Amino acid sequence: MFFKACIFALFLRANAVIYKLNDTEYDRMPSLYELDNYEKCLRSDGLYCVVKITLSASPDNQLMRMIQEYSEARIHYNHTYIDWGICVSSRCKNYDLKGDTRLSIEKCLNQSFYNEHRLEAKITVHYCNNSKERHQYDFGDWIFGFVLAFIISLNILATLYDIRLRIFNNEIGNQYLLGFSIIRNWGLLVAHHNDPNFNKFVSIHGIRTILSFGMVLGHTMFIFCSGFVDNPEALEQAYQTPFSYIIFNGPMVIQTYFIISGCLFSYTLAVNPHWLKSFFVPILYRWCRLTPGLALLLGFITTWYRHLGTGPLWNFYVSPVVNDCKQYWWSHILYFNNYIKEYCNIQTWYLAADFQMYAIALILFIATRNRGRIFAIFLLFFIGCAGPVLHDWLQDINGVFITYPEVYRTFSDDSFAVVYVSFYNNLCCFSMGLILGLLTFNANKYKIYFSKHKRILTPLFWTLCLLVLLLFMSGYFLYPNGERPSLHIRIAYSALHRPILGAIMFIGITMIIFKVEDNFRAFIEWPGWRVPSRLTYGVFLVHICIIHYIQGTRTQLYNISIFNVIIMHLGVVWMSYLFALPIYLMVKKPMSNITKLCLLYASTRFLVNKKK
Ligand SMILES: *[C@@H]1O[C@H](CO)[C@@H](O)[C@H](O)[C@H]1NC(C)=O
Ligand SMILES: *[C@@H]1O[C@H](CO)[C@@H](O)[C@H](O)[C@H]1NC(C)=O
Repeated sequence: MFFKACIFALFLRANAVIYKLNDTEYDRMPSLYELDNYEKCLRSDGLYCVVKITLSASPDNQLMRMIQEYSEARIHYNHTYIDWGICVSSRCKNYDLKGDTRLSIEKCLNQSFYNEHRLEAKITVHYCNNSKERHQYDFGDWIFGFVLAFIISLNILATLYDIRLRIFNNEIGNQYLLGFSIIRNWGLLVAHHNDPNFNKFVSIHGIRTILSFGMVLGHTMFIFCSGFVDNPEALEQAYQTPFSYIIFNGPMVIQTYFIISGCLFSYTLAVNPHWLKSFFVPILYRWCRLTPGLALLLGFITTWYRHLGTGPLWNFYVSPVVNDCKQYWWSHILYFNNYIKEYCNIQTWYLAADFQMYAIALILFIATRNRGRIFAIFLLFFIGCAGPVLHDWLQDINGVFITYPEVYRTFSDDSFAVVYVSFYNNLCCFSMGLILGLLTFNANKYKIYFSKHKRILTPLFWTLCLLVLLLFMSGYFLYPNGERPSLHIRIAYSALHRPILGAIMFIGITMIIFKVEDNFRAFIEWPGWRVPSRLTYGVFLVHICIIHYIQGTRTQLYNISIFNVIIMHLGVVWMSYLFALPIYLMVKKPMSNITKLCLLYASTRFLVNKKK
């Protein structure tokens, strides 16, 4: 009997979770982050170390139990270990630092932790600096410099050539060289006209731009939530309000991009059916359009980037990224980096997943040239719905990705690395997009007109907007306090979240394309969206670099507040556009011009050969 009671007590104890602490109790815990003055430490020839301190204590220590129970909740940081940047030489003056640094730091911190909290500290040293680290320039830096110089001179040359042609406008000129002309590409950037075939899709510029602002906001959160802030409790408290789940549950908004991507894919192929003659030409074309910008970015990260900043946290946030890029750049170029766990350009999992779905859809469309296409698309849809369910059911991984504090801090989360980034889990919305594209193309044939029902449909549109907001807040209700509900509910959530979101977006975008609702359409079809929309790819590539730079060069703890997040977000957006502009003018557009010309040349050659 006594035994049973004991086991029961132990069991209870192991499962106790504290969801809220009042301020006095919260402050009894050692602060999660600390950052000593870096400059001052190094000026006095000191030793500066960034360490992970794992706390422990004897079993009857009440404070330690509280820390453990508080950390047990997923909506809190794990307070049983803390990350500190410390000036060892001034904090641990009385300890011998010549020998084993880790042991001396451990002894020294143990003393202060024991005096202050009656806790024991186990130290893991991330790294130590005793002078401002300067990376050696190596061969790669020179190569990148040459490549950059080559690109810039080519652009200048082409621009001068273009100017000359404009002054003496008597020749057509070399189109390949003119493809690099900045004046010309600027014209293309600000041009109002689109391909007349795609007039229906002008609204996509607006949608894409607004979504990219949202994406940058989501990633800006990493600056504040991944560590070294003085008020981590502010983030933890944010999980108590449903509205903040618009951000924490927000990553699912990427599904909208997949709908657009699928839609443009099937529409483009419907307009140009001859593309279906081969598999490799469209794939190569896509690869050639996406890769130059990406390759330049990878080149930059692996070479010049590491020289650009220093600071106590540079090796914490930036060096791992640089090292991973050095090791795995090829997986990015070949677009399967979403299946490798690494930290290089983490956002480009999207490019990889999109590329994979593109390839699969292409095969499918080629195979179903005569019939069965709709059936095949539905098959994709069901695979997309089943994927997250199976992960949840068989592997016990949340099918819907929600960013919790430890996800921000450690950046290792199965729900992200296994479910979210795998292409098959995103097929659901992509296949909806395929249907949307076919629907738009065949609108005349099937006589799809909605204008008669405007009166009914307009309120529906605004209801959908509300529903999207509710869907984003659903994580708060389904996973209260981060606790996982029963398997049935979880599976239902994993199975339904993507299709529901997809369906809402599908109906919404259809209404915009078919001109059902007018007020929102006027806003989203505003011509001003075109320019930022064309720069979106560049923004997508560079914004993470900027975010890592901000993280790596910080010398003091930041403060989490809505105002600071907004200011930071605006800053990152502006900076990203500033860099995206030259990338678009000098790399992306020229390469896509050249690719188009090559394709044209190849196809005319091919036709001539055939005629012979
Ligand atoms: C916080 O909670 C503890 C124990 O639950 C209590 O003793 C203390 O008075 C509380 N402090 C405040 C400021 O409410
Ligand atoms: C918190 O971190 C410690 C040390 O890394 C780990 O042993 C523990 O399992 C973590 N706790 C939770 C709830 O994840």
